[in-house]
Amino acid sequence: MKVASQKQVSFKWFGMAVQFSIIILSACSERSFRYFDVVWDDPGKSGKFDRISGTNFSVIVANESIVEVSFLRTWQTSMKGSCVPINIDQRYIMRRGESGFYSYVIFDRPQGLPAVEVYQIRNVYKLAVNRFSYMAISDTRQRNMPSLTDRKQGRTLAYPEAVLLTNPNDSKFKGEVDDKYQYSSEIKDDRVHGWITQDHFAPEGFWIITPSNEFRSAGPVKQDLTCHVGPTVLSMYTSTHYGGKDVTMTFKEGETHKKVFGPIFVYLNSASLKEQFRTLWPDAVRQSSNEVEKWPYDFVGSKDFIPPNQRGTVAGLLQIQDGGGKAQPASNASVGLALPGKAGSWQKECKGYQFWNQTDKNGNFLIKNIVPGDYNLYAWVPGFIGDYMYTTKITIKPGGNINLGSLVYNPPRNGPTLWEIGIPDRSAAEFYIPDPNPELINRLYSNNGTDKFRQYGLWERYTELYPKQDLVYTVGVSNYHKDWFYAQVTRNVNKTYVPTTWQIKFPLQNIIMGGNYTLQVALASATYSRVEVRFNDPNVKLPHFSTGPIGDDNAIARHGIHGLYRLYTIVVGSNHLVKGNNTIYLTRSKATSFFEGVMYDYIRLESPPTKAT
Ligand SMILES: *[C@@H]1O[C@H](CO)[C@@H](O)[C@H](O)[C@H]1NC(C)=O
Ligand SMILES: *[C@@H]1O[C@H](CO)[C@@H](O)[C@H](O)[C@H]1NC(C)=O
Ligand SMILES: *[C@@H]1O[C@H](CO)[C@@H](O)[C@H](O)[C@H]1NC(C)=O
Ligand SMILES: *[C@@H]1O[C@H](CO)[C@@H](O)[C@H](O)[C@H]1NC(C)=O
Ligand SMILES: *[C@@H]1O[C@H](CO)[C@@H](O)[C@H](O)[C@H]1NC(C)=O
Ligand SMILES: *[C@@H]1O[C@H](CO)[C@@H](O)[C@H](O)[C@H]1NC(C)=O
Repeated sequence: MKVASQKQVSFKWFGMAVQFSIIILSACSERSFRYFDVVWDDPGKSGKFDRISGTNFSVIVANESIVEVSFLRTWQTSMKGSCVPINIDQRYIMRRGESGFYSYVIFDRPQGLPAVEVYQIRNVYKLAVNRFSYMAISDTRQRNMPSLTDRKQGRTLAYPEAVLLTNPNDSKFKGEVDDKYQYSSEIKDDRVHGWITQDHFAPEGFWIITPSNEFRSAGPVKQDLTCHVGPTVLSMYTSTHYGGKDVTMTFKEGETHKKVFGPIFVYLNSASLKEQFRTLWPDAVRQSSNEVEKWPYDFVGSKDFIPPNQRGTVAGLLQIQDGGGKAQPASNASVGLALPGKAGSWQKECKGYQFWNQTDKNGNFLIKNIVPGDYNLYAWVPGFIGDYMYTTKITIKPGGNINLGSLVYNPPRNGPTLWEIGIPDRSAAEFYIPDPNPELINRLYSNNGTDKFRQYGLWERYTELYPKQDLVYTVGVSNYHKDWFYAQVTRNVNKTYVPTTWQIKFPLQNIIMGGNYTLQVALASATYSRVEVRFNDPNVKLPHFSTGPIGDDNAIARHGIHGLYRLYTIVVGSNHLVKGNNTIYLTRSKATSFFEGVMYDYIRLESPPTKAT
């Protein structure tokens, strides 16, 4: 496959790095541009944009096989209030024979800088309007897209990023919703995304390949933007999307820090015939596998990027023991290293590097390419609640290999299961996801498949399904696939949003008097919510349990099926339950808009401990 447009000129012509850098910055075409920006503020404020330009250009290396250039901005006191107090070095690398360029950024906070909060860091590529028309973010999520003009001529919906295309140039998009958040991905699923031109006899592709997620914050299931109408291609380093303010890089006054983001690879491909445009996506996927194979890169100029021979590995065997009995292999578990913290702290951690992998079916894991430093090892296992953490700190030495041997996770459990709702997998995907309003659909997801939750406006369907009375779930009768709405949202009563109370009805054959029962409630998401739990008396003023105010992950408005994970273990004495029919009342107590709500991951009632547990 040939290199697109005039960039190959620069491969043959390596001496003059300044011109070279101009060519790569103009990226794919003369009508496109890129920028790098940071959303930041003084602690406690709301966030301002800083579009970073280098003030100091230098050539790191320039020879026949590689050119690396640097655009550095060093923070000065005179920038206080207008620029994020971090020294930022943007680097670009081109290598002979590679169709594209590498891009990485070094953040450095030397001594003496003011306190700051960083909410978002991203690289934005705006491609030539009217040329790139086909967007691809996965094997199944790809298609021709509406244009920016179509968006501008449309009608903005309740969430301003969402637009109903009322007057698109191409009538086949009429009546569709476009919203950039419909194209988010979990970080672990986002190896490559980009756009393809179809206008020419020779189609071209522009792709962001992320060979490692080590520098991206908040772990492998953090979701973020990929591509959207513009045509826009993003490389998100960190953001509060689907996590909220908890997922913020925070620095105290004088706190020092250094981190390398990337490199990522900006890959360009082309085909010689118009009809061959469909080959560009599989070619980009192939290229992303090549980049993963090459990781960690051995050609990066900064000494702050740790080369392959200085990195370490951690191996081990993870087993699970749920409520006594023999330990079993924890298969398909996610196991990772992140900065030392508490069990589950990785999902909010933004400052360090994270290294994740999956266990095999026997529970074995191997995590390679770890940057030397101090970590904790964290894990969670599909099918089981809670978070595992290996409490001894792990120190990775350059080139060091650690085998932790056999580790056993005892997930939270106080007694045998009486009943359960859902699957403990940190997502609400198994619950009832309604069909979208036919007037507000995105046809990319109209096949009723696993991406259905990405449709716009599903939250409004709750009021239509439950106009007078909230959801009632009867254990043993109801089916959570059909009878448990994916999110407990507010209800719209005559244009006023009211709190909702869901009921779980269940029988108890007999009561173990004096014993403690346990309700395990795992949430997959929360936005401006408070969940109160009452047993058998909906009117008792003081709830038996309250989560307190939780969450701003905004996963409902942004069409996610989860945000941050939370687990509540609620102990209830037998005096609150009765022999026969019982009801648990789950009240989402606050209501000011339709984007507020929680998603449940899983609910389980356990009887009092027996000897075995
Ligand atoms: C509008 O659509 C026509 C044909 O469908 C196409 O030739 C033209 O380039 C489009 N214009 C814009 C601005 O997208
Ligand atoms: C993940 O585990 C697999 C299987 O053990 C291994 O082949 C692969 O190299 C590991 N990847 C990383 C990045 O550690
Ligand atoms: C989607 O699938 C569900 C369950 O299979 C079905 O009840 C529903 O009617 C389908 N909706 C559409 C629009 O096909
Ligand atoms: C909603 O408004 C209608 C018409 O004004 C009224 O009849 C009805 O009682 C109201 N419903 C509620 C729950 O307030
Ligand atoms: C039940 O829980 C309460 C409160 O946590 C505790 O004081 C009590 O000892 C427990 N009873 C039993 C039988 O474990
Ligand atoms: C208990 O609930 C079941 C199922 O909803 C119902 O059929 C039964 O009549 C109830 N029993 C009593 C004693 O209310």
